[in-house]
Amino acid sequence: MQALVDAAILARESAYAPYSGFKVGAALLTSEGKIYTGCNIENAAYSPSNCAERTAFFKAVSEGERDFAAVAVAGWAEGKEGFAWPCGVCRQVMMEFCRPETFLIYVTDGSRVCEKPLAELLPEGFGRGNLQ
Ligand code: THU
Repeated sequence: MQALVDAAILARESAYAPYSGFKVGAALLTSEGKIYTGCNIENAAYSPSNCAERTAFFKAVSEGERDFAAVAVAGWAEGKEGFAWPCGVCRQVMMEFCRPETFLIYVTDGSRVCEKPLAELLPEGFGRGNLQ
C-alpha cells in the first residue's frame, strides 16, 4: 500500500494543472502487481481535461491490462485540509474494469492515507453486468 501511495505522490509532480493549480497523481495496481501511474492533464478549452485516475486507467487498459486491485490518489491543494476522493466520472471508469466490493481506493493528502472500496464510493453502480 505504501509503495502505491508513494508512486501516486511522485506522479503528482507531473501534473499539468495550469488552470486550477490543483495537482493530482494516481497509481493503479494490476492484479498481477504492476503499477501504472497518471496525473491530471488540463486544457485551455477546459472540458478536454483529464483526471489523474483516468490517465492511469487509460494507460493501463491501452497496454492490455484488464484486472485491477487498487488505486492510490494523491490530490491536495497546498495548505488546505481534507482528502480528495475520485470524481464521479472516474468512479464510473473504475466500475467498468473493477469488482466494486474488492477494488480498493486509497487517498492521501501527502501524509495521511484513507481507504474505501469502490462499492462504498459508487453504491448500486451501473456496469457491464447490467447489459448482459
Ligand atoms: N482531478 C483529478 O485529477 N482527480 C479527481 O478525482 C478530482 C479532480 C483534477 C481535475 C482537474 O485538473 C483538477 O483536479 C481540479 O478539478
